[in-house]
Amino acid sequence: MMISYETIMTSLSITKSTVGTGQLTRIQRAYKVIAPAYDRLRPLWTGGALGHAERFLERRVLPQYCPPGATVLDLGCGTGANLERLLRTGIPVSRYVGVDISPAMLGRARQKFSWLKSAEFYIGDIERLSFSDNTFDFALSTWALEHVPQIEVAVTEALRVLKRGAHLAVLFHSIPDFPWGIPVRLAEPIFRLAFPIRFLDPDYQFSISLEHHWHFAKGLHTLLLLAKDEYA
Ligand SMILES: C[S@@+](CC[C@H](N)C(=O)[O-])C[C@H]1O[C@@H](n2cnc3c(N)ncnc32)[C@H](O)[C@@H]1O
Repeated sequence: MMISYETIMTSLSITKSTVGTGQLTRIQRAYKVIAPAYDRLRPLWTGGALGHAERFLERRVLPQYCPPGATVLDLGCGTGANLERLLRTGIPVSRYVGVDISPAMLGRARQKFSWLKSAEFYIGDIERLSFSDNTFDFALSTWALEHVPQIEVAVTEALRVLKRGAHLAVLFHSIPDFPWGIPVRLAEPIFRLAFPIRFLDPDYQFSISLEHHWHFAKGLHTLLLLAKDEYA
């Protein structure tokens, strides 16, 4: 079922009252500017040699952990890059749900996938998901955790809405190993003045549910695979 424009605007007003922090407003403002060019800019950090992590996600992680016929949740879905990826893999998905805080990014995603009846896009904060417990068979998030103030909260929320035994894959920018990390650490504060992003710890450890931990591009990109406990 696709969500109507009216439904999205209603969700947005709810979101504003429940989220309303300066950080989220800043993210919405930044992505309003970026959204029209986002799909063209994306290869800057996912193209060529920097694309290993995304290729690994697509070729190794999705086929193994996203079961055929799955209901899939995409956290910080943006313009729908992960939906394109799922379609490319050919894994049949019964329902794809993308959640994003930016109306501008979601607007692009809705435009691109208006033909796909199994795709739904919602405005919302990934730290406060409005889905019931044990809803999804697989969840993923690419390049969105870097914006989220409390990563553990977003990950715990994602695990809550996953079914028992289901997996969550998260891919994010991280601080590379020494000495490659030096320029990143130096540039980050300047970068942050313009754009609300941070490079996370490549050895980010979640106390629960971490199944795999992969580093790419000397640690500039980190991919984590978490599993919801069978008995949670
Ligand atoms: C760099 S884009 C990544 C988009 C997409 N996942 C991709 O791989 O192209 C980051 C996205 O995260 C979204 N985002 C940031 N903080 C969020 C939050 N707290 N809740 C939901 N979405 C958020 C932004 O609006 C933006 O669309």
